[in-house]
Amino acid sequence: MPAPFRLEADARLSHSEINAAYAWAEWPQREGWRLDAVGRSCTWFAARQTDDGALIGIARLLDDGGLHAALWDVIVHPDRQRQGIGRALVELAVERCRDRRLVALVATPASVPFFRALGFVPESHGHTAMYLRPHLAEAC
Ligand SMILES: CC(C)(COP(=O)(O)OP(=O)(O)OC[C@H]1O[C@@H](n2cnc3c(N)ncnc32)[C@H](O)[C@@H]1OP(=O)(O)O)[C@@H](O)C(=O)NCCC(=O)NCCS
Repeated sequence: MPAPFRLEADARLSHSEINAAYAWAEWPQREGWRLDAVGRSCTWFAARQTDDGALIGIARLLDDGGLHAALWDVIVHPDRQRQGIGRALVELAVERCRDRRLVALVATPASVPFFRALGFVPESHGHTAMYLRPHLAEAC
């Protein structure tokens, strides 16, 4: 039986907690000024173990408040994956932007089945998501 967890909306996450979660996914560590900027424009969601409060999952919502929202940084600790924590985080974030016309995200290859299971699709009404990495543009 998986250990119980609780969810937090408008979570206050420290730089070290966020970077610890990035490390679970083997993503780069981010500078404090970037995380501060992200924290000013986004809403964090967190999953914590009920017994000791340890962070076991995060998600981040960038919401323009009227039309569109984007979901970023959905990460669950490797020891706690496939226990419904990612689904619970995404459902909580999507509930927050239920009235928007579009919710977008960029899925890692391994997370495509997860997001598909939650109803996300790679193409919608003939529209395809596209993106640019400006800091790499000169190398393109
Ligand atoms: C993607 C991720 C957040 C999923 O979190 P999770 O807590 O393991 O997901 P859940 O347990 O809520 O899964 C919900 C459903 O998604 C699907 N799913 C999740 N992981 C899956 C996988 N590896 N393969 C196939 N289906 C998967 C299943 O349908 C699952 O339901 P089930 O367990 O009843 O079959 C987690 O694997 C992770 O942190 N990955 C590394 C970071 C990452 O790539 N994040 C996405 C980019 S933003």
